[in-house]
Amino acid sequence: MSEPFVLLTPSYSDCEGRGAVAKPVIRFLNDPANRALIRGVIGTGNLNFGEHFALAGKIVAAKCNVPLLYTFELAGTDEDVARVKQGLDTFWTRQRSTAP
Ligand SMILES: Cc1cc2nc3c(=O)[nH]c(=O)nc-3n(C[C@H](O)[C@H](O)[C@H](O)COP(=O)(O)O)c2cc1C
Repeated sequence: MSEPFVLLTPSYSDCEGRGAVAKPVIRFLNDPANRALIRGVIGTGNLNFGEHFALAGKIVAAKCNVPLLYTFELAGTDEDVARVKQGLDTFWTRQRSTAP
């Protein structure tokens, strides 16, 4: 990545919550240049997974020390889409106003 970004990631874990973060996401974030530019995470998943819902988003947010900005199920509802668009607008406006 060449500029700050918000990562949107699904979760794919086993029944125990292992392996939730997809390998391409791990590879991507193992690159220090990419990791330095992550500013937030949005997690998707399926509520059928209970406590492991959107687990990858939670794990990445904790590991990279950035906020989990939002979670939604599957492809999201129209309301989720509107909230993510609006939320990201607000988020980036705030980021720009506080950036050094
Ligand atoms: C093997 C497998 C494991 C999954 N594990 C989780 C999980 O741990 N937590 C979760 O919230 N959703 C889980 N999901 C649901 C996916 O994150 C969800 O379907 C997401 O929308 C995937 O996007 P896709 O259907 O475009 O691949 C899993 C789905 C599959 C197929």
